[in-house]
Amino acid sequence: MKKILIAAALITNLSIAHAADNITVIKAGHFIDVISGKVQTDQIIIIEGNRIKQVLKADQTMTLPEGATVIDLSDSTVMPGLLDSHVHLVGSSLYGYESLSMSTGRETIFGVVNAKKTLMAGFTAVRNVGAAAYADVALRDAINAGDVPGPRILVSGPALGITGGHCDENLLPPRYKDVTEGVADGPWAVRTKVRENIKYGADLIKFCGTGGVFSKGTRVGAQQYTLEEMKAIVDEAHMAGRKVTVHAHGTEGIKSAILAGADSIEHVSFLDDEGIKLAKKMGTTFSMDIYNDDYILEEGAKVGMLQESLDKEREVGLRQRQSFQAAVKAGVKMSYGTDAGVYPHGGNGKQMVKMVEWGMTPMQAVQTATLNTAVLFGMEKDIGAITEGRFADIIAIKGGDPLTDLSLFEKVSFVMKDGKIYKNE
Ligand code: ARG
Repeated sequence: MKKILIAAALITNLSIAHAADNITVIKAGHFIDVISGKVQTDQIIIIEGNRIKQVLKADQTMTLPEGATVIDLSDSTVMPGLLDSHVHLVGSSLYGYESLSMSTGRETIFGVVNAKKTLMAGFTAVRNVGAAAYADVALRDAINAGDVPGPRILVSGPALGITGGHCDENLLPPRYKDVTEGVADGPWAVRTKVRENIKYGADLIKFCGTGGVFSKGTRVGAQQYTLEEMKAIVDEAHMAGRKVTVHAHGTEGIKSAILAGADSIEHVSFLDDEGIKLAKKMGTTFSMDIYNDDYILEEGAKVGMLQESLDKEREVGLRQRQSFQAAVKAGVKMSYGTDAGVYPHGGNGKQMVKMVEWGMTPMQAVQTATLNTAVLFGMEKDIGAITEGRFADIIAIKGGDPLTDLSLFEKVSFVMKDGKIYKNE
């Protein structure tokens, strides 16, 4: 009886609004409710324009609003669009010295292509953490204007880093005096950089807090920036209402960044117990790209990665996965961050399998890639779940149960963003 009343109320509302031409109805055979952590069957999702109006159990007595577009996904599992907190859409597909031959213009055009691949893979919102010349700002704006297809994007602009650090360009000899645009040393200089990034359109701030795998000459475990500099960056960014994310593999760099008040840490490879405790205390989110190691070690040499990078990867890969496992077990907040760009865009879903292999339940992995990453994005009112009021960013998978076979996350068959269908196989 209750169900009939709900359906009746819905139809009355719709007819009053006379908005059926603006209504899309999705019939979901299976529905992953990330809020309750349960899978429901036979759900009806009512979308008005670009927002979700209602989700309810299908009922024989209900008549769908006349004029509504009906999408039948009875044979699929429907869930919120996936989110990725670490991508590099803008950039080349080249590694090592080859990468020097790429102009920013060409990198930007790659960005357009990569944005489409990412959306088609079911990732409806991403965070782009580091790009030259504010090309990421241009890409975000072009997508928002409807000029090119792509996910919703939060952008950082050029990542901040110390002279000679992971976020500086270290490939050329001194006579070229090459310094990357995000380089700044000292508390006041980094504050100026933060202000500059915000002036030119950054949604968040990224800085490099330790060495890295793909930078020449950096030690992956060594801290970059003093605690004082890190605090200055975070203070300045927070004052402007921007979140801060930090590239950090090394133990001390991770802990300093957490202490400085960073909102999230990328990679988090050499995590220790104290780092786990600090992250829990400070409410820091970890964005750990634990698929990457497979690609780098299998394909790296073939695609031109430097020997130095491959050697460093052997230091961090397994250790990072163990750190992930420990952090999951301790209940540290996690987002879904892949560092796509190191490996080909559109493969963002590959990490789901790894996250379950290293300690998450399948539902936890899905919640991480939706609900929890939306919170890190500061967009939890708009994305991350299929529930009343949020944007109609919806995907579906067919051919099996994705919670049993997580590799199905690499084969998303339906993509809707902002109420518009981009893929329906
Ligand atoms: N951008 C990162 C770096 O250069 C990639 C690290 C990839 N390796 C890994 N195990 N997650 O440091």
